[in-house]
Parts: sequence; structure tokens; C-alpha cells
Amino acid sequence: MAFLIILLRLIHIVAGAFWAGAAVAYFLYFEPTAKGLGPARSKFMQDLVGTHRYPVFMNTSSMLCILAGLALYWFSSNGLSVAWITSGPGLGFTLGSLAALAAFGIGFFGIRPRAERMGAVGAAMAKAGGPPTPEQGAELGRLEAEMHAFERWDVGLLVLSLALMAISRYLSF
Ligand code: HEM
Repeated sequence: MAFLIILLRLIHIVAGAFWAGAAVAYFLYFEPTAKGLGPARSKFMQDLVGTHRYPVFMNTSSMLCILAGLALYWFSSNGLSVAWITSGPGLGFTLGSLAALAAFGIGFFGIRPRAERMGAVGAAMAKAGGPPTPEQGAELGRLEAEMHAFERWDVGLLVLSLALMAISRYLSF
């Protein structure tokens, strides 16, 4: 049993660090850098997504973190005991887990479809070989603004989750 918990904690914490770290790095550094590239931006995004498979990295690390986290939650709460869930650590880990699940939902249902659509518009532009049509430009602008709003929530919730995970064990009330 101790070995299983060690393995789950290893997977959970390493995958969680990758997930939250990559989300923060994208929000604070990759996206603003890409924005400043002008017309080369589309190529940067296609390389990041297509060649270097950033979405695959995010999907894998988030799923590993969540699955191992749910198993740890089951063991820590002795099979969902109400006494543990309403204790200080229980409340902290529960809120942290809900924040991470909400972040995952925002990524999956909010960011992913918009990123795919942006990729499709970028590919159509590359095929046509010219500057974006007014419709494409307007669509890209709208998608970008929506994605940025979702990313802000996503990163905020992941940082909140990480902070709660970090302190919950020591909450006593
Ligand atoms: C659905 C999502 C999540 C669930 C269900 C979950 C659940 C848990 C549970 C139950 C523990 C306690 C493990 C134990 O007692 O051995 C834990 C620890 C931890 N989790 Fe999560 N977690 C989730 C997401 C995250 C995320 C997104 C991060 C990082 C960004 C993270 C980072 C950590 C860390 C660093 C610890 C160690 C805390 C300590 O040892 O005091 N977790 N998690």
C-alpha cells in the first residue's frame, strides 16, 4: 500500500507541476511572445501545436494529475468519509481538487475548440498564401480574445489549486 501511495503521489505531483507550469508559461510568456511576431505568429503556433504537440503534453499531464489525484483523494478520505472531507485538510484538498477540475473543464470545453478553430483558419490562410481576409481577421481576433479570457480563468484556478494542495495538509479546524 505504501508503495502504491508513493507511486500515486509521484505521478500526481510531477504531472501537476508540468500541467500548471506549462499553463503559466504559455499565458505569461509564449502567448505575448507570439503576439509580437506579427505574420510569423501563425507559423509559431502551428509549430507549437503541430510539430511540438503542446496540446498532447497538456492533455497527458492534466489527465495523469487528475486520475492519480482522484485515487489519492479516495485513499486520503478513507473512501469518501464525511469526517475527513469536512476536516481542515479535507476541505482544502476538496476545494483544490474542484478548482483543478474546473480548470480542466475550461481547457477542454473553452480553450481546446477555439485553438483548433484558430489552427484551421491559420491553415486556410497559409493555403491561400495571402493576408487574412477581413472575415478571417475578425474571426481570429474574436477567437483570440475569447481564448485569452478562458486562459486567465484556467491559470487562476490552477494556481489556486496548487496553493490549496500545498497548504491543506496543515489546515487544522
Ligand atoms: C482533480 C484534481 C486533483 C485532485 C483530486 C487532487 C487530490 C490530492 C490529494 C487527495 C492529495 C493528498 C495526497 C496524500 O494525502 O497523500 C494531493 C496532494 C497534492 N496535490 Fe493534488 N489534486 C488535484 C490536482 C492537483 C493539481 C492541479 C496540483 C498542482 C498544480 C496538485 C498538487 C498537489 C501537491 C503538490 C500535493 C502534495 C501536498 C502534500 O503532500 O501536503 N494537485 N492532491
